Amino acid sequence: YILKPFKNLGIIDFNDQEIYNEMKETLKRVESEFGKRYPIVIGGKEYETGEFIRSINPSKIEEVVGYTAKSNEEIAEKAVETAFETFKSWSRVPAWKRAEYLLKTSKILRDNRFEFVATMVYEVGKNWVEADADFAEAVDFLEFYAREMLRYDAQQPLVRIETEKNDLNYIPMGVGAIIPPWNFPLAILVGMTSAAVVTGNTVVLKPASDSTVIAAKFVEALREAGLPDGVVNFLPGSGAVVGEYLVKHPKIRFISFTGSKEVGLKINELAAKPQKGQMWIKRVVLEMGGKDAVVVDETADLDFAAEGIVVSAFGFQGQKCSAGSRAIIVEDIYDKLVEKIVEKTKEIKIGDVRFHENWLGPVINSSAKNKIMNYIEIGKNEGKLIFGGKALEELGGYFIQPTIFKDVPWNARIAQEEIFGPVLSVIKAKDFDEALKIANSTEYGLTGSLYSKSREHIERAKVEFHVGNLYFNRKCTGALVGVHPFGGFNMSGTDSKAGGRDYLGLFLQAKVWSEKI
Ligand code: SER
Repeated sequence: YILKPFKNLGIIDFNDQEIYNEMKETLKRVESEFGKRYPIVIGGKEYETGEFIRSINPSKIEEVVGYTAKSNEEIAEKAVETAFETFKSWSRVPAWKRAEYLLKTSKILRDNRFEFVATMVYEVGKNWVEADADFAEAVDFLEFYAREMLRYDAQQPLVRIETEKNDLNYIPMGVGAIIPPWNFPLAILVGMTSAAVVTGNTVVLKPASDSTVIAAKFVEALREAGLPDGVVNFLPGSGAVVGEYLVKHPKIRFISFTGSKEVGLKINELAAKPQKGQMWIKRVVLEMGGKDAVVVDETADLDFAAEGIVVSAFGFQGQKCSAGSRAIIVEDIYDKLVEKIVEKTKEIKIGDVRFHENWLGPVINSSAKNKIMNYIEIGKNEGKLIFGGKALEELGGYFIQPTIFKDVPWNARIAQEEIFGPVLSVIKAKDFDEALKIANSTEYGLTGSLYSKSREHIERAKVEFHVGNLYFNRKCTGALVGVHPFGGFNMSGTDSKAGGRDYLGLFLQAKVWSEKI
């Protein structure tokens, strides 16, 4: 099978007039489909239950992007049974053929790029560029995991002995529960799902309730690509009902989850308890939160650092596990850099992201808004509010100003807990030593950045800054598939390194056979 080597899909330039126009037209077309219904899909059959998940546009909350049929336990049972039956045939489909379905799906996505991007703009409030980066990452996952499967399927290196013929094969595990988040509603969903199925497993996919429409559109693409019925079973529904049902189910072999620490830990606990009739220890892959730090020392280029801090903290409204929600700055340059951060933040345009000029969109829903506003209140007693701090109800969506606190103690709640919103805590450190210590002072360990021109500091950070993805002189978000395998330490999860060479191994088990000659 000859495939071109993997290459990341670049993002598109919306400043090009033709591209801009096409995006505008697509936004109109997608808007004209608002309110459409999307079904549950199990074994290729569509179901409804009479109940729906209403997916609204967080930029303009009276707009309903779509209604997705809401599953219950009975439907969830059918989904698991179907996936279990389908595993028998799908697990025997040759690896190259499974990989081919991913490549076909990638093509369908690329042919409908603007539609996927526009849907994310409306459904989760991503600005055009963030939505397109999400799209490009989804395509990258399909292309990367297709190639990775061929590598895992090739002959594996073993020590050879003369008296035996030996071989090691990676075989699939069974039925997986795939529970992705709403914040990378296409990329992470596609990555988790495609890795699970290209390795020969079948899945029940429970999308996040805030982003079911984009999920349904991906499921449509899989069907168009001809993926056999029952390989991906689409089960929109509440986490508390169907999510939990799946996690506990004895026929579920593995669970792949990306989301909050609280839910991740609960899944880990529930999955650990064997159920009646269960034949295995469930494998649990978790990607959870972060309280990521951008550290700046006295040698750094301050304009460059200010830019990196603002983009890391406020990109997609700070709703990324990789967001740089802490800036840890050494004393010498603290005041100067804080001023520059505020200047840059002032330039941010806030508003409905269907308009390209708006960079900062809304947060995802009203409970997120309340939670973030509550943290802002807590912050007022912990640090000094120097920018933002208000919700902008008059804009018609869940908008919150980019918010900056300075002089935040390292152990304050707003410096320790994941807020998942546009709130930056600026922390002063005496020197680089203390800055590193503070950077490592949370229970998380996902991403981090250091802005420095000191080779010595950079080399020290490589050893001492304990995060899964460490960046130098650049922002701490925006990991690229294959280039920056992504995942973190400690309470950030199982360091599963999505988009890396270890990832497919999480969905496989190794079997050795040995024949005497
Ligand atoms: N992979 C994303 C990033 O690096 C976060 O999920 O920003």
